[in-house]
Amino acid sequence: MQQKLHFFLHPIKQELNYLVLILSLILTSILFYNILNPLQPNSLFNNLGFLSQILPEKSPNSSPKTCDLSSGKWVRDETLPEKRYSEKCPFLDPGFRCQQNGRQDAGYQKWRWQPESCNLPRFDANDFLQRSKNGRIIFAGDSIGRNQWESLVCMLAQGVSNQSTIYEENGNPITKHKGFLSIKFQEYNLTVQYYRVPYLVVIDRPPKNAPKEVWGVIRVDKLHWFSTKWIGADVLVFSAGHWWNQEKTVKSGHYFQEGENVNMTMNVMEAFRKSLNTLKRWVIENLKPEKSHVFFRSYSPVHFRNGEWNKGGYCNTSKEPETDSSELEPEPLNNILISEAVEQMRSAKRKVEFLNITYLTEFRKDGHPANNREQGTPVNAPQDCSHWCLPGVPDTWNELLYAELLAMGFRTSSN
Ligand SMILES: *[C@@H]1O[C@H](CO)[C@@H](O)[C@H](O)[C@H]1NC(C)=O
Ligand SMILES: *[C@@H]1O[C@H](CO)[C@@H](O)[C@H](O)[C@H]1NC(C)=O
Ligand SMILES: *[C@@H]1O[C@H](CO)[C@@H](O)[C@H](O)[C@H]1NC(C)=O
Ligand SMILES: *[C@@H]1O[C@H](CO)[C@@H](O)[C@H](O)[C@H]1NC(C)=O
Ligand SMILES: *[C@@H]1O[C@H](CO)[C@@H](O)[C@H](O)[C@H]1NC(C)=O
Repeated sequence: MQQKLHFFLHPIKQELNYLVLILSLILTSILFYNILNPLQPNSLFNNLGFLSQILPEKSPNSSPKTCDLSSGKWVRDETLPEKRYSEKCPFLDPGFRCQQNGRQDAGYQKWRWQPESCNLPRFDANDFLQRSKNGRIIFAGDSIGRNQWESLVCMLAQGVSNQSTIYEENGNPITKHKGFLSIKFQEYNLTVQYYRVPYLVVIDRPPKNAPKEVWGVIRVDKLHWFSTKWIGADVLVFSAGHWWNQEKTVKSGHYFQEGENVNMTMNVMEAFRKSLNTLKRWVIENLKPEKSHVFFRSYSPVHFRNGEWNKGGYCNTSKEPETDSSELEPEPLNNILISEAVEQMRSAKRKVEFLNITYLTEFRKDGHPANNREQGTPVNAPQDCSHWCLPGVPDTWNELLYAELLAMGFRTSSN
């Protein structure tokens, strides 16, 4: 400080001093302009991408969150496939390798999500691995959760030179037939795990004396027993949705149980709300806010046209994202319930984020395996318009996850 003052007051350097003064004035006015207009798409910080990532966009006492990543548009990017992992990534499920399964077009791999008011940070696998050292990242949910887990494993594997140092801890193959899979990144002592829990809560046999139409129960007040394994994780990504409908619950004999009683009239969304409440209580009781970063991913839309999945619905005619926004489905009720639960956990001072990918994913009717299903699938099997080809759409979800983790300043404690 002394030296600087001295420099400013030095008479011989007067001209230089004026220059410094003018430069500071320009810089200060740029700063003020951007503080006042943080969300202007054309504000200077957004054009200077590197600055928008290091400088807070909002006033210092609001949360350091960069901007709303959920709204924006898909931009064609021919160079994307070179930057991403390939279908050869050994951790991909055969069902998600669409080219190998006969898909001819590859345009679906060339779309980048551009948020409206900022840029997504470049996914830096090295940085992500470094931050996650000695840590544990878990995905708990249905098979769409496995889809996202496989995507993240392949994205992180790009940051490792010796691929033999990445392996499934129990020697299991990566398939849909396993309810638990755990990938170790040996050089970083990091595990990235998947737990299959389609309802989040326990699925059980009916209690004695239950009416005979009850084939099974979904116990809305009892979190899945896998949850004992989630305690102490550094990052937890929950998801649910595809099993919370009439067809897969009461219409197939699976009713909701609360306490010891099977409730024959409980509505599916009411049951979902109760299950989210069970998860919320568990998070508050079991996770340390300084260690665990919790995410709940929003609903991943399906794109069956001309019929449901089991009524001949198809999506194999879609080669490009939707351009007509009037074709998009309205916000599903699931998301409202999830975001409410997330808000309640946040009020209890837990680090929880709602990973809102529904809107951006709605456009991507071109991203599903459709009729290019894994070898051995009968020819007349339904098309897959629920899961996603990889590389593909879930990579973007993980880019959002990374952006959120950066905004939270994520780093494992032993790091
Ligand atoms: C998710 O994001 C979309 C797009 O920004 C928005 O319209 C929607 O309201 C968000 N959903 C919730 C539950 O916040
Ligand atoms: C690996 O990480 C675990 C925590 O997940 C820790 O207990 C263990 O000491 C670490 N091992 C090494 C070799 O650092
Ligand atoms: C790669 O890792 C494997 C397993 O740790 C090890 O056996 C092998 O020597 C490594 N290869 C190279 C080239 O470092
Ligand atoms: C079943 O659940 C509904 C909705 O939560 C509730 O209104 C009703 O009282 C419950 N019925 C019984 C018998 O517990
Ligand atoms: C879409 O799938 C149906 C049957 O599932 C098939 O008859 C049709 O030829 C396919 N269309 C394209 C464009 O692949």
